Amino acid sequence: MADKIDVLISEEDVNKRIRELGETITKDYNGAPITVICTLKGAAPFACELIKRIDLPVELEFMRVSSYGNASESSGVVKIVQDLDAPIEGKDVLIVEDIIDSGNTMSYLMKMLAVRKPKSLKLCSLLDKPDRRVAPVNIDYKGFEIPDVFVVGYGLDYAQKYRNLPFVGEVKEI
Ligand code: IMP
Ligand code: MG
Repeated sequence: MADKIDVLISEEDVNKRIRELGETITKDYNGAPITVICTLKGAAPFACELIKRIDLPVELEFMRVSSYGNASESSGVVKIVQDLDAPIEGKDVLIVEDIIDSGNTMSYLMKMLAVRKPKSLKLCSLLDKPDRRVAPVNIDYKGFEIPDVFVVGYGLDYAQKYRNLPFVGEVKEI
């Protein structure tokens, strides 16, 4: 049977919100250069769209982390699968993430990066699922708050599928 995925946030709405986030970030940093850290793989489509809307000198870095735990619950202990190429000491750093769910992954990662002494460390997430939060995370720039449903598209996957959908879809049946 084919998987059933409903549109939760349309392509048009996602793109409009990304433009707004880019404008806000541009204003807030007021001409200062920033280092954008895209967390792989999920945040890649969002980060690619977002940086085009940020009118500042931007350095783009990638990091890949995986959370120990089972498939549906992250544990709060994060393994760095691929680290940054460059030091972030003294830099204005903006982490770009696809979704904050339990908050375990990002709360751990932000503590880990803070040790490297960036000048500032902020977080931008396309989606926020606050109902499942167990570890507090401050999201400086948030695309959309969503209910406790499983979503795919715009980078988010189900078993590595559906990252390429141009909208955020709610999985109804899989
Ligand atoms: P957290 O540590 O529970 O906040 O885990 C966040 C990570 O879980 C995200 O970066 C996603 O990779 C994954 N995740 C959480 N909710 C969803 C979802 O609805 N769809 C796809 N992946 C999700
Ligand atoms: Mg992620």
